[in-house]
Amino acid sequence: MSQTASSIDTQPAIQLRGVSRRFADPGGRTVGLQPTSLIVPRGEIHGIIGFSGAGKSTLLRIVNLLERPDAGEVIVHGQDLTRLSAAGLRQARHRIGMIFQHFNLLHNLTVADNVALPMRIAGERPARIAERVKICLDFVGLAEKADVYPGRLSGGQKQRVAIARALAPEPHVLLADEPTSALDPRTTLDLLGVLADANRQFGVSILLVSHEMEVIRRLCHRVSVMEGGRIVEQLDMADGRIPEGSRLASWLSDFGAGPAASPSPSGRPDAGSGHHLALEAAHA
Ligand SMILES: Nc1ncnc2c1ncn2[C@@H]1O[C@H](COP(=O)(O)OP(=O)(O)O)[C@@H](O)[C@H]1O
Ligand SMILES: [Mg+2]
Repeated sequence: MSQTASSIDTQPAIQLRGVSRRFADPGGRTVGLQPTSLIVPRGEIHGIIGFSGAGKSTLLRIVNLLERPDAGEVIVHGQDLTRLSAAGLRQARHRIGMIFQHFNLLHNLTVADNVALPMRIAGERPARIAERVKICLDFVGLAEKADVYPGRLSGGQKQRVAIARALAPEPHVLLADEPTSALDPRTTLDLLGVLADANRQFGVSILLVSHEMEVIRRLCHRVSVMEGGRIVEQLDMADGRIPEGSRLASWLSDFGAGPAASPSPSGRPDAGSGHHLALEAAHA
């Protein structure tokens, strides 16, 4: 993370101030995101959990202005993205990685070329690109797949490639929208391990959307609970306990997910836990 020493270095990773994004649903009701504020300190893994339609993806997409808010400020590492020129925004986005539920790899490019692509588009030097591709494919354990096409990979391997691609430009922030929802539980655990390692080794802050409680519990330092386009609760997950009396605890007990306060150290994806994917069941 090369950055000159300045007051910007002390700013949070992500600061949303009063952002909103409203849509009309087919019945004419206003949905989307109500005015919302959020601070994610540097180095934090912050989870966003909630049911379908709660506004999680809209909130996440506002952080790199894939979704432009109707109002409010989006400050990433001290820079208000809403005030940047198109060129400035392109540069800022270079330092905001993103991974998706369905990986979004290009199937006519090799693994190495997929990882290289954002850096090529940004006009990075070829030697620098080659170096970063190697470091990031090594990091996700897929160095030997560099010349393979994505069609030959498992879902878990595809998501590792997507993580390598997101990390290659040395992002300050990684946005992850349901990154494990297309994967089986075993592969989910592997992937959470990769994300936790990326946070520890590279210091990348992570904002992760999931409706799977177990994903949040294992990975996140803090969690924001969303409902009806708002953050309705914020909880510290550092000790893996969900406070009794919290909205999250009541959801979990409503949906038969087991004891709401059972311990499971977050940030340690190898730690065991009795129940799984609580809000998944609530979706069915
Ligand atoms: N581009 C859009 N146009 C219209 N409505 C949208 C759009 N994006 C999201 N919405 C609506 O906003 C609400 C929140 O959506 P979303 O952020 O995708 O929720 P979540 O990710 O929590 O499932 C939903 O009611 C959704 O239908
Ligand atoms: Mg979503």
